[in-house]
Amino acid sequence: MNVTIVGTGYVGLGTAIMLAYLGYQVTGLDYDEEKIQGLRDGILPIYEPGLAELLTAASPNLHWTSRYEDAIPQADFIFVCVGTPPLPDGHPNLAYLESAVRSIAQHLDGKPQIIVNKSTVPIGTGDWVMRTLEEHAALYATSHYEVVSNPEFLREGTALGDSLYPDRIVLGGSGWATERMRALYAPLIEQNFEAPAHVPRPRGYERPALVETTLTSAEMIKYSANAFLALKISYANEIAGLCECVGADIHEVTAGIGLDHRIGTRFLAAGAGWGGSCFGKDTSALISTGQDYGYNMPILRAAMSVNARQRSLVIEKLQKHLRLLKGKRVAVLGMAFKPDTDDLRDAPAHDFIARLCQLGATVVAYDPVAMPRARTEWGDLHYLEATSAHAALEGADAVIVATEWAEFRSMNWNEALCVMRNRVIVDARNIIREPLTVPAILEQIGRDHPHSSFLPASALPADKVGA
Ligand code: UDX
Repeated sequence: MNVTIVGTGYVGLGTAIMLAYLGYQVTGLDYDEEKIQGLRDGILPIYEPGLAELLTAASPNLHWTSRYEDAIPQADFIFVCVGTPPLPDGHPNLAYLESAVRSIAQHLDGKPQIIVNKSTVPIGTGDWVMRTLEEHAALYATSHYEVVSNPEFLREGTALGDSLYPDRIVLGGSGWATERMRALYAPLIEQNFEAPAHVPRPRGYERPALVETTLTSAEMIKYSANAFLALKISYANEIAGLCECVGADIHEVTAGIGLDHRIGTRFLAAGAGWGGSCFGKDTSALISTGQDYGYNMPILRAAMSVNARQRSLVIEKLQKHLRLLKGKRVAVLGMAFKPDTDDLRDAPAHDFIARLCQLGATVVAYDPVAMPRARTEWGDLHYLEATSAHAALEGADAVIVATEWAEFRSMNWNEALCVMRNRVIVDARNIIREPLTVPAILEQIGRDHPHSSFLPASALPADKVGA
């Protein structure tokens, strides 16, 4: 079976490489010639653990092109994985999708072909894609094609494990089309499927559940799953705030809550709140869809506002101890929206740096992977780059842990803090677990200053800090 993937972003690349690994002939199509040339040379445009190894293993089955005429006619399955970035009003921008669908339509071959929507598209888009194909298909009268919604649930940083060992495969469309999709995914559905050794099999994993449903329900599943996870995190963050008020510890509270199987322990980590390309975008898209029908979604609105509050809170915690931030040197550890990715979309660190600069602080940032990308994408921000976490801390008055990279978790904090001028730590990811033996102020989220010992009198009050 021949597969074409339109759009080689995170989802498209992951899908292309995964299907080629399963043995299909896969053509990856992108209008960005430079990216395509890079992929032909084996260069990945993104950082994702283990993906480079899988690209090498699957390369005999992979082909790259920027021309629709080379990719569409022979394809049995055409996966549409183009970006749908948010517009200022919260609706996703469907311009790339529309242009991709029109170009696909012009090159359909007349044989049975399935157009698979993997991009997170607004509810109802499957039908719209079908109509757009009908309007633009060169061989409309003779073509047999159908649209299937097959939402993607992979997380960046664990994309390979998520796509090779998925919890469920959701297929929305007609019986004819979903049956063909089931055949395509058959290798993953077999109980004894083994991914390459570098992709760990989740403990207790057997096989994915299959959900076969209508186009619209499949689209709804994707949005409501992401919005629910976002909501869960905001709930943990809201409870964390109350933990600080009453003197409880959010780690213990969420561990206790999560033991109830109806709730579960995952996605209850309180901290800087969610970021990334999906949660904010999908939650606001769902709210906007509701609005289109005059339907208010107060729970999702609250989840969004708790998330925004979480970001301000981090700066407020700094202000509480340093008072004036003007002229202070603040280290920001971590720029990516989460560890194991260089993705900077909607990263809390961006907002921290922007606010710190606005308040007149000097920011020194460090990220193990995302700094080169930040150089091109964060042109709006002024900060100094450090070559290591240690270098970022040197002479700083405060540090914000913005991303929970393993490197920061395993750091010897007592040693690292010694190079700071003043030691105010806002650990916005609650990673510091060891007791601090050097004099320092430690602020975490939802924890009652667990290991703080106060700065020497000479370092505070605020007018002395950073002097
Ligand atoms: C998410 C969904 O998990 C995935 O199913 C969907 O396909 C795309 O969106 P991703 O954005 O890659 O994936 O990252 P994820 O690991 O889900 O984390 C999202 C954000 O939530 C990150 O900013 C992370 O730091 C934050 N988060 C996650 C928390 O703040 N607390 C948690 O407990 C978990």
